[in-house]
Amino acid sequence: MNNKLVWLLKNTKIYKRIKSAALKLGNSYELNVSPAFLFLSQHANGKFNRYDVVVRFMAIEGINGESNSGLTLYNKMQQARNLYLASKNKRIKVEDLPQNKEGTLQNLVASFRSKGFNPEFPLKVNSNLKLVDGSHRLACALYYNAESILVEKSESLEVEFGLEWFKSYFETDEVSKLQEKYQEILKSFDIKVVLEKILRREKQVFGRGEFYQSCEEIGIPGQRPTAERYKIYGLDKYLSTGDNVLDIGCNCGFFTLLMANKVKLAVGIEITQTLVDIARVTQVYLDRKNVQFRQGNFNKIKLDQNFDFICSFAVHHWLDADMKKYGKRLHSLLNSQGKVLLESQNIHKEDLDWKEKLGRFRQAGFDEVQTGWLKDDGVIERRFSVLQKV
Ligand SMILES: C[S@@+](CC[C@H](N)C(=O)[O-])C[C@H]1O[C@@H](n2cnc3c(N)ncnc32)[C@H](O)[C@@H]1O
Repeated sequence: MNNKLVWLLKNTKIYKRIKSAALKLGNSYELNVSPAFLFLSQHANGKFNRYDVVVRFMAIEGINGESNSGLTLYNKMQQARNLYLASKNKRIKVEDLPQNKEGTLQNLVASFRSKGFNPEFPLKVNSNLKLVDGSHRLACALYYNAESILVEKSESLEVEFGLEWFKSYFETDEVSKLQEKYQEILKSFDIKVVLEKILRREKQVFGRGEFYQSCEEIGIPGQRPTAERYKIYGLDKYLSTGDNVLDIGCNCGFFTLLMANKVKLAVGIEITQTLVDIARVTQVYLDRKNVQFRQGNFNKIKLDQNFDFICSFAVHHWLDADMKKYGKRLHSLLNSQGKVLLESQNIHKEDLDWKEKLGRFRQAGFDEVQTGWLKDDGVIERRFSVLQKV
């Protein structure tokens, strides 16, 4: 291969990687986040993968005279980690690795105590906000309630220290202590503050400066009342425990999370990264494992599963959808006899021609089984229809 071609291939790859990472992290290479948000982001598929941060937190308690076991567990973890690294890579020798990092932690704690988080040393995260480097700093930031910490993107691989890893090196009662501390840390978060901070990271198009949807379970008000909408649509009679549900343009995911109480799986797709972050953090906080949130443009996203119920609430306008084509796509995503709940935008503005739009949607192969209307925010009047695939 000639040099020019090699150069081109290499750079295309790099370009693609950087671009996809930038997209996932809201296009910015540095981000100020709350430590609680970063901690909550270390979950995947309902599992927490960074118990090492919990151990470091306990060690800091130890340094501050609040725990007897924190530093012991910390040193045990460091030794176990050395053994683990050496077992993974034959070129690494345990004796060449740092045996005791307590001094480093002591110095970091002293620095945090006097100056707080030092933005000259951002933590490194990958494009999914998984911690790549900076677990000591995250533990300090959590312990000292740092207002925010700076993270920057890194393309290095994330490391995982889930409960399974600790079970191979720690005694059962030590693992239990970790789980208790993890729960204690979770409970100490003011989730409303965490979510509010994410919302304010960028100017939002929806919600009139507040959350677009309310979340009654957490006590967050919103422009549109989620629980009330659920009742108005009569969703209880349509959703069943074995159903897979898709929520297109799910915003902060509060509606998706409410439906998840009733169904097998709820998938939410949303184009705006900050809204997906809010949805994922709330999911962890509510411990709702049967939910998947995906960031992306619904018009382009590939879905390799079918659904029993699809929510298209106030979104077709933003998808710039031709209603018949849109109907066809949703038809193909539904299981036999599956249903769509199609909600309009403002029927005195964007959807003056709602009847025609609905008609075109039905031509894709649907029967209307219910219609209704709502003015749930006290301002915008909307129509909705439940349509069954034929
Ligand atoms: C008016 S809001 C409705 C939110 C939600 N469906 C509801 O009714 O509560 C429209 C939502 O669709 C999202 N959205 C717009 N274009 C999108 C696209 N191409 N793909 C996925 N989501 C999109 C917006 O970011 C916004 O959260």
